[in-house]
Amino acid sequence: MSSAFPDPHAAASTLPEVTICEVGPRDGLQAEGQIIAAEDKVAFIERLGAAGLRTIEATSFVAPTWVPQLADSAEVFAKVRRLEGVRLPVLVPNELGLERALDAGAETIAVFVSATESFARNNLNTGWREALADAEAVTSSALAAGLRVRGYVSMCFGDPWEGRVPVDDVLTVARRLFEVGCSEVSLGDTIGVATAGHVRELVGRFTPVERSRIALHAHDTYGQALANVLTALDGGVRIFDSSAGGLGGCPFAGSATGNLATEDLVWMLEGMGIHTGVDLHSLIATSAWMAQLLDRSSPSAVVRALSA
Ligand code: HMG
Ligand code: MG
Repeated sequence: MSSAFPDPHAAASTLPEVTICEVGPRDGLQAEGQIIAAEDKVAFIERLGAAGLRTIEATSFVAPTWVPQLADSAEVFAKVRRLEGVRLPVLVPNELGLERALDAGAETIAVFVSATESFARNNLNTGWREALADAEAVTSSALAAGLRVRGYVSMCFGDPWEGRVPVDDVLTVARRLFEVGCSEVSLGDTIGVATAGHVRELVGRFTPVERSRIALHAHDTYGQALANVLTALDGGVRIFDSSAGGLGGCPFAGSATGNLATEDLVWMLEGMGIHTGVDLHSLIATSAWMAQLLDRSSPSAVVRALSA
């Protein structure tokens, strides 16, 4: 039974605490054509921490043949100086990835499953049911090893092969990830096709308790990411994924462009009086430096406006 969507005016009258999960070093760099040197990845993560980001998805322990951009994840993760209060989750696709993450000293992992069959096949080389079973097993092993586990559901809104994704399919996968012990579940708009109406519908189907543990992982392909964040925020979501400078995409979903830029998110939240703890100028300097290494400019309007 679905619960009512909260009154947006009631939500807006108080200032919620929001957590930003910075995914640039993982979701961003995995999709860039150019491979960044390990020491620059390390510097990137450290600079993001110094700019005030408190959750930084540092890298992934996936098959290097699938994502050569992050093949040096063990080296990068070992070299990053740990900052007090900064969490560094890493993405893990299977038991081998978990072993590698444990060897590297990771304390938080993220497992990922698709809400659609086509993306499960393209991203994990298996069906979504098998992928969900694998993610459940990895989650149990990680919890037994004392790790914290975040779950991702990809293709929560639209899928390049299947079109609009049924809300019930997303709920099934997300709830299963909660049941097996994920502390939060991130709803991925992997190809950035979500609209405020669709976000409102999906978020409204979760219970208030679930909503407080849901993240919105927006890509900005159609320029709707901030509208989607605002809608989810009004609906009770408190965790938002974004990438510095709007880096990224997904190598296994060609139509995906970068994530919502962290700068755009911070600009909006601070404008609403929601304190993020992020020093925007230092973040922009970091994005500008990374954009130079990648030899491309940031798609973020805020980065462009404030760098001018
Ligand atoms: P496969 O080819 O079916 O697997 O890939 P396999 O078991 O046959 O392994 C192939 C080779 O990879 C073997 O090596 C394995 O040992 C090795 P070989 O015997 O050929 O020398 N291997 C590994 N090596 C290192 N670390 C590992 C690992 N696993 C196997 N963990 C597999 C299956 C799941 C491995 C592959 O499909 C994979 O790695 N996929 C990950 C793809 C990926 O990273 N996608 C991007 C992240 S998801 C995303 O971006 C969406 C998200 O941002 C949310 C959103 O936007 O919606 C999270
Ligand atoms: Mg993504």
